[in-house]
Amino acid sequence: MGYYQHHLFFCTNRRADGAERPSCALCDSGELRAYAKAKLKALGLTGPGGVRANTAGCLDRCEEGPVLVIYPEGVWYTYVDESDLDEIIERHIQGGEIVERLRLPDQPPE
Ligand code: FES
Repeated sequence: MGYYQHHLFFCTNRRADGAERPSCALCDSGELRAYAKAKLKALGLTGPGGVRANTAGCLDRCEEGPVLVIYPEGVWYTYVDESDLDEIIERHIQGGEIVERLRLPDQPPE
């Protein structure tokens, strides 16, 4: 096992108004990441050997966002609200099951 059992990266990138590509921050990814971090802590899951939820810059999946990726599995998700994050935490982090309805493709489009 790595230093963390699960390491979550939430894109919180915000582009300038009028930018050509969307920004995850405009979908409240910063606030939702803070929600997930607080929930993980309240559940006693954080810390070395546990789970960490970090902010990240643009992960270059902007059109599919907001996005987060969980390592070591390398599973990508999108989400829209707190209930989606609750489901990812409960089913993926705690249950070891991938949440297929929120999962993004592993492979880039051809
Ligand atoms: S702005 Fe979030 S992936 Fe690019």
